[in-house]
Amino acid sequence: MTTHTRVAVSLWTLALVVTAAVFYTPLSAQGKSVNDGVYSDAQAKRGATLYGEQCASCHGETMEGVADLFPALTGAPFVKTWTGKSVGELFDKIQTTMPALDPGSLKPAQAADIVAFILSHSKYPAGAAELASTADALKPIQIVAPK
Ligand code: HEC
Repeated sequence: MTTHTRVAVSLWTLALVVTAAVFYTPLSAQGKSVNDGVYSDAQAKRGATLYGEQCASCHGETMEGVADLFPALTGAPFVKTWTGKSVGELFDKIQTTMPALDPGSLKPAQAADIVAFILSHSKYPAGAAELASTADALKPIQIVAPK
C-alpha cells in the first residue's frame, strides 16, 4: 500500500465512523427510560393535587386500586402492565379515557402532571425538566422496572 492509499483508507474509515455516530445519536436519545429523571418534583406535586381530586375516588388514595374493579397505578401490577410501553401511551390512556366518568376533560398539561405524580409514586427519580404534554413527545420514554 502506498502512503497515499493508506491515507485514503483511513479517511474512509473516519467517514464511516462519523456517519455511524450521526445515525446512532438519535437512537440513543430514544433509549430514554423513566429511570432517567424525566419529570420534576414541582410537576409531580401539581399532579398529586389533581390525582386527589379526580382519580383517588376509584384508584385509591395510595393508587392501590380495587381488585377486579380499578387497576392499581403503582407497584408490581402497574409495572407489569406497563413495562415495555411508553410514557406517551400512559399519557394517551389518561388523556383520552380518564377520569372514567368524564374522559377527555383533563387538559394535556394536567394529564402530564398526573403522569409525573404516578411516576413519583412508583419511586422513579425526579429530574430538572418537566414531562412534555403531548403523547408524541413522550413516546420515546420507555416504562421499565424501577431501579
Ligand atoms: C369512576 C372511576 C374512575 C376514575 C375517577 C378514574 N379511573 Fe382510571 N380506571 C378506571 C377503570 C374502571 C379502569 C379500567 C378500565 C380501563 O383501563 O379503561 C381504569 C384504568 C386506568 C388506567 C389504566 C391502568 C392499567 O394499568 O391498565 C390508568 C392509567 C388510569 N385509569 C388512570 C386514571 C387517572 C390518572 C385518573 C384521574 C384523572 C383516573 N384513572 C380516574 C376507573 C376510574
